[in-house]
Amino acid sequence: MRYLTFALGKGRLANKTLETFEKIGITCEEMKDKTSRKLIFVNEDLKLRFFLAKGPDVPTYVEYGAADIGIVGKDTILEENRKLFEVLDLGFGACKMCVCGPESAKKYLKSGQQIRVATKYPNIAKEYFFNQKHRTVEIIKLNGSIELAPIVGLSEVIVDIVETGSTLRENGLQVLEEICPLSARMVVNRVSMKMEDERIRKLIMDLKAVL
Ligand code: PRP
Repeated sequence: MRYLTFALGKGRLANKTLETFEKIGITCEEMKDKTSRKLIFVNEDLKLRFFLAKGPDVPTYVEYGAADIGIVGKDTILEENRKLFEVLDLGFGACKMCVCGPESAKKYLKSGQQIRVATKYPNIAKEYFFNQKHRTVEIIKLNGSIELAPIVGLSEVIVDIVETGSTLRENGLQVLEEICPLSARMVVNRVSMKMEDERIRKLIMDLKAVL
């Protein structure tokens, strides 16, 4: 039996994924050692391998078949737009992709005048404003703390993830438009889905039973 390789997005998502996998009898003791600098972890009995990667790199590993399966946020799947199968909504990590800004930015969205949109997700922002809203905006790519942009005058609005809404509230911003709901998803390499059909189907069924 060959190894099935999993790419997990680092951080909260990976912890929640491992918790969920434990419920269906998939464990990886090695991975629990937080002091370890190892990058790849193996469960010899089940012939499984796991590695942690930066979220946006997970779809890349899966598209190229370096990982058979990836667990990653829907935001990353939409932004990276890789060739892969999205097979399961894991439900956790639920949040929304939104257009946000100060109350005063509402008029810019209504009027259709040229605005600047700061975001970590330029492709999602383009798809939303260009293809769904049929309007031209200037997209400014940032790498984090996106809420700063309208406060310091870099942009009129932002496109970003809203989970509890506290970052917005504490910075005098609000949701102006909702783009789509997000959560953790399981993605599968297109060839692996055929070659390892039985093992992957069983994994999906077992996960569905505990979610
Ligand atoms: C995300 C997102 C928001 C925040 C939303 O940022 O970009 O800033 O979480 O969460 P809330 O609605 O519960 O306040 P993250 O913590 O991933 O860091 P980043 O700013 O570096 O993107």
